[in-house]
This record gives sequence, structure tokens and C-alpha cells, in this order.
Amino acid sequence: MKYIVLLFALIGLSAPTFAGSDLKAKDLLSHSDCFNCHSVDHKIIGPAFKDIAKHYHGNQASAATINMLAAKIIKGGNGHWNAVTGGIAMSAHPQLSMAQTTEMVKWVLAQ
Ligand code: HEC
Repeated sequence: MKYIVLLFALIGLSAPTFAGSDLKAKDLLSHSDCFNCHSVDHKIIGPAFKDIAKHYHGNQASAATINMLAAKIIKGGNGHWNAVTGGIAMSAHPQLSMAQTTEMVKWVLAQ
């Protein structure tokens, strides 16, 4: 009985976290400088988030791809989109953690 109560308590606690996770990721992007260089549907300095999502197969992206992209946001750099950007590099974001950039990448891939 105690465990059932505990189980419901856990479900109750985790439900708002799931519902809020999309908003949380969008918040992370808005509070960083991402939208200075990216928009969802057109290239600014960086490629459109929709084009990035399409290129990496959106929600089908492998864990390795998600990790690579999360690490790339922290380190910055160029190379994958030179044909689109003319070789401009993404700035580094050493203030962000892998957990944060992983959330951001998942949001980007859902566009
Ligand atoms: C100074 C401009 C700039 C800022 C700020 C910026 N980006 Fe980028 N971003 C770029 C450019 C340019 C590329 C293309 C890099 C390449 O050619 O590999 C890129 C590429 C990406 C990619 C694809 C990487 C790849 O290797 O395919 C993702 C994902 C991304 N950005 C997410 C973000 C997020 C999230 C933020 C905010 C934390 C952000 N960017 C901030 C310019 C920027």
C-alpha cells in the first residue's frame, strides 16, 4: 500500500516535468544567443533549425548524433554547413552543460 501511494506521488511529481520539457528547452534557447544566428525556418548566420532537423532525420536521430550536436554547441565550429553558411563557425558556448545542450538539440530536431 505504501508503495502504491509512493508510486502515485512519483507520477504526480514527474507529470509537470514532461509537460514542461518543450517549454524548458525553448527557454534555454531564448535565454542563450541561439536566435541571434538561427531561426526555425530560414537561414540567418547559421542554418535554419528546420534544415538541421531534416538533415539529421529529426526525432529518428541516433544518440551518437545527438551527442555530437550537443558537444558541437559547446565547442562551436564549422564544417558541416559550409555550403550554406560560406564557412562561418558557430560560436562556442562553454557556459552550457551537455545536459542543457542535449535538451536544446532535441528541441531543434523536433522542428
Ligand atoms: C554566432 C552565430 C551562432 C550562434 C550564436 C549559434 N549558432 Fe548554431 N550554428 C551557427 C553556424 C554558422 C552553424 C553551422 C556550423 C557548421 O557549418 O558546422 C551552426 C550550426 C548549428 C547546429 C548544427 C551543427 C552541425 O554540426 O550540424 C546546431 C544544432 C546549432 N547550431 C544549434 C545552436 C544552438 C542551440 C545555439 C544556442 C546555444 C546556437 N546554435 C548558437 C551559428 C551560430
